[in-house]
Amino acid sequence: MQVLVIGATRGTGRLLVDRLLAEGHRVRAGIRAPGQAEALAAAGADPVPADLEGPDEPLRAALRGAQAVVFCAGSGSGTGPDATLRVDLHGAVRSIDLAVALGVGRYVMLSSMAADDPRRGPAAITHYLAAKHAADRILEGSGLAWTSVRPGGLTHEPGSDRVEVGVPRLERRGTIAREDVAAVLAGCLTQPATIGLAFEVLEGPVPVGEALAGLETGRAGTMAKP
Ligand SMILES: NC(=O)c1ccc[n+]([C@@H]2O[C@H](COP(=O)([O-])OP(=O)(O)OC[C@H]3O[C@@H](n4cnc5c(N)ncnc54)[C@H](OP(=O)(O)O)[C@@H]3O)[C@@H](O)[C@H]2O)c1
Repeated sequence: MQVLVIGATRGTGRLLVDRLLAEGHRVRAGIRAPGQAEALAAAGADPVPADLEGPDEPLRAALRGAQAVVFCAGSGSGTGPDATLRVDLHGAVRSIDLAVALGVGRYVMLSSMAADDPRRGPAAITHYLAAKHAADRILEGSGLAWTSVRPGGLTHEPGSDRVEVGVPRLERRGTIAREDVAAVLAGCLTQPATIGLAFEVLEGPVPVGEALAGLETGRAGTMAKP
């Protein structure tokens, strides 16, 4: 599958690039500066300009011909609410609109735990959760084959390829390794049961493939009740 990863240079997006390549996908890696291209090309990806705050045309070119897009970009916790609105909300919406216009059928959003209701999250990041909530709602109404993956706090720990998922939410808060989120995002592209679903994900005991397949029957959301 030809996949565009938006926000491919660092964090979860960078791990996802490697994961998708290892699984045999062709990967367009969204970058913002020419200096970011070399490392991604060396990894086997096709670096393409995809700045969510930039002009439409490069973003349109990055999306044209792609079969799926995975949104992994984020303004980051060190920026203010204005950057959150520009990247996590408006940037996401622009990519959704362009995906619709260009016929990119599949869209997987890396959202956040508590995006279903920002009041569930810490007060300090309500603006961020509200941006994620709005972007998810627009994606859900887009007509695309969408999935919203909503992890808890991301860590740099090694992945275990095991998780706990809950539709639409989990009863606990917690963390998850970025590597495991990358495994979930990649898994969504080949697991039709995830289409049209928003689900929360934390570190847990269930192999990723099994957790995603379980979404089909609703089993995955029923475990680990205290
Ligand atoms: N941190 C958490 O605990 C947490 C929890 C739940 C969900 N999330 C979400 O998970 C996602 C990934 O987070 P992360 O911490 O793994 O990533 P990260 O290390 O913060 O990397 C962010 C990525 O987004 C890119 N980016 C920033 N502004 C952009 C723009 N205007 N246009 C295009 N790309 C842009 C960055 O590119 P540059 O290298 O060019 O800056 C980078 O590739 C984000 O959507 C975040 O909101 C995070």
